[in-house]
Amino acid sequence: MRTAHGLAAVATMAALAALGTQTAVAQTAIPSEPANAVNLVDGLEGVFGTHAARRSGARGVCAAGEFVGNKAGAAVSKASVFSGKPVPVILRFSVGGGNPNAPESGKGVRGLAAQFDLPNGEQWLMANISAPFFTAATPDGFLAFLEARKPDPATKKPDPAKIAAAAAKYPDFKPQMEWVAKTGVPASYAAVNYWSTHAFKFTNAAGKTQFAKWMFVPVTGQEFIADDKLATHAKVFLEDELKGRVSQIPVEFDMVLQLAQAGDPTDNATVAWPDDRKKVVAGRLKVSAVTDKAACDGINFNPLVLPTGIEGSDDPLLAARAGSYAVSQARRLAK
Ligand code: HEM
Repeated sequence: MRTAHGLAAVATMAALAALGTQTAVAQTAIPSEPANAVNLVDGLEGVFGTHAARRSGARGVCAAGEFVGNKAGAAVSKASVFSGKPVPVILRFSVGGGNPNAPESGKGVRGLAAQFDLPNGEQWLMANISAPFFTAATPDGFLAFLEARKPDPATKKPDPAKIAAAAAKYPDFKPQMEWVAKTGVPASYAAVNYWSTHAFKFTNAAGKTQFAKWMFVPVTGQEFIADDKLATHAKVFLEDELKGRVSQIPVEFDMVLQLAQAGDPTDNATVAWPDDRKKVVAGRLKVSAVTDKAACDGINFNPLVLPTGIEGSDDPLLAARAGSYAVSQARRLAK
């Protein structure tokens, strides 16, 4: 026979079970909450820790250069960057991820960030990566990616089940992961292609608008470290290699615009457009010197700082980047 006490106990157990279910649901929500500028930076810190460097692209080097646009660029955009006059550029090359001591012989993306200082006082800021796609299509997806990789306090390693659950919910992680796995490690910051991954809207002087993505292509070609040499390769070499290269040979990249055709997605940085889309060389970037940290540490390369003639697209990552770069900058400069 059940006593009142027993029933109460059963009721309490049922309530606890219900509570347990709710807790379990809350814990397994992927991502744990909608992404915003702050929790995205928290997510990066969860994976890489807190330090005085950038929360992503933490290991890197500042450089200086010059960009000269051309008529083909001016045909796509009225931005003064394509006027043909040299424009000074502040650059930063980096290793992907938020580890300031990341081994430079490791697989993963490299970054090329730039601030073009235009004659009319405008600026064009960008941060590009050495892969045609970003990690995730949406801020929520990127937050899920980061949360799944946060090391478990007990094992100090990410939980493979969480990584698998996030990947199952966001199949858009796949293109970049496959690309990184099959692509070599760059032998130089100056010898690898860099992509915008996002589409931007370009308007020319006649008012014609079209979407384009850009790519920086090293004039002397790409160079990779052979996979079987990676284990014995120096872990830190990119800054000295760049200094040496710049002092000996011109380090130049073509800026190539890939023009969209009707139907090409403009809101998804994990989808590359077909390779047969028209490409135009819009100008050339020359890297002239590796500079002191102070030359670029005060800059966050917010990709929505754009000159007249270039606008953002409907890609939801762009606004998330603008916010989280500011949060990261505030935190690192406060250190
Ligand atoms: C929601 C998506 C993204 C988030 C939350 C995010 C977050 C961040 C943060 C917090 C920083 C450090 C900013 C600073 O302290 O100045 C950073 C740097 C960087 N990001 Fe992103 N990022 C996102 C998407 C992308 C995409 C799509 C690309 C490439 C196309 C990219 C490329 C880079 C590069 C190259 C850097 C280093 C820039 C530098 O040298 O200062 N990120 N990112």
